[in-house]
Amino acid sequence: MNFYIMTLFPEMVMDGLNTSIIGRAVNNGLLSIEAINIRDYAFNKHNSVDDYPYGGGAGMLMQAEPVYQCYKALSEKITEHAKEKNEEETVKKPRVIYLSPQGKTFNQGMAEEFAKEEDLVFLCGHYEGIDERVLEEIVTDYVSIGDYVLTGGELPAMIMVDCISRLVPGVLHNDVSAEFESFQDNLLEYPQYSRPEVWHEKRVPEVLMSGHHANIEKWRREQSVIRTAKNRPDLLEKAELTPQEKKMVEDLSE
Ligand code: ADE
Repeated sequence: MNFYIMTLFPEMVMDGLNTSIIGRAVNNGLLSIEAINIRDYAFNKHNSVDDYPYGGGAGMLMQAEPVYQCYKALSEKITEHAKEKNEEETVKKPRVIYLSPQGKTFNQGMAEEFAKEEDLVFLCGHYEGIDERVLEEIVTDYVSIGDYVLTGGELPAMIMVDCISRLVPGVLHNDVSAEFESFQDNLLEYPQYSRPEVWHEKRVPEVLMSGHHANIEKWRREQSVIRTAKNRPDLLEKAELTPQEKKMVEDLSE
């Protein structure tokens, strides 16, 4: 899977994504991540890419043309790549995600959808945003990472790349762990323990030491349901609970 990030701060994005699991997946050729500097497409001698908003107001706006030229160059490159790899099939335009608090809130389901794509383009705004006209022409998806305002789209893009990458087969060493974790079934993850058996006088739950797999699975599922009921009851509405589990949740809230 190939990620392309259009940004004014390429080093911020690349530094953040070059480490740990994502860095290893890039080295193994499972992912590619490229940050493209929008400033390289500035069209004036000062290399500036921002200007005052018409109608007044605070701050500066990223201008349409540099963003558009950057997108055009990138989209041609992606098309060339795709043609080289797959000559017969028609090459579709890549999805272009604009990071903005006005977008749809990112969640695991969206990550799963995006993970099906071969190429994803992220557009990171800065200053007070980007001239609306270029957004209308190139953006396919508007995505927010939550109801708060950041200084730019770089951190949200990095969060999305991280979350989508771990769903790409082979990125996590064991493919099962992506499936069973938090949110996959609209339940939070159960608590986990490692050595030592006793730490700060707290003992690892007995069932986990029993070696009895069915009991362990049962306990973990129960813990997931209990945690979700306590911490994120909103998720439970979408989770598939057995009648016994529903009863357990009701009992918890009494
Ligand atoms: N840019 C600024 N704030 C943002 C947010 N919450 N989500 C996505 N992009 C943003």
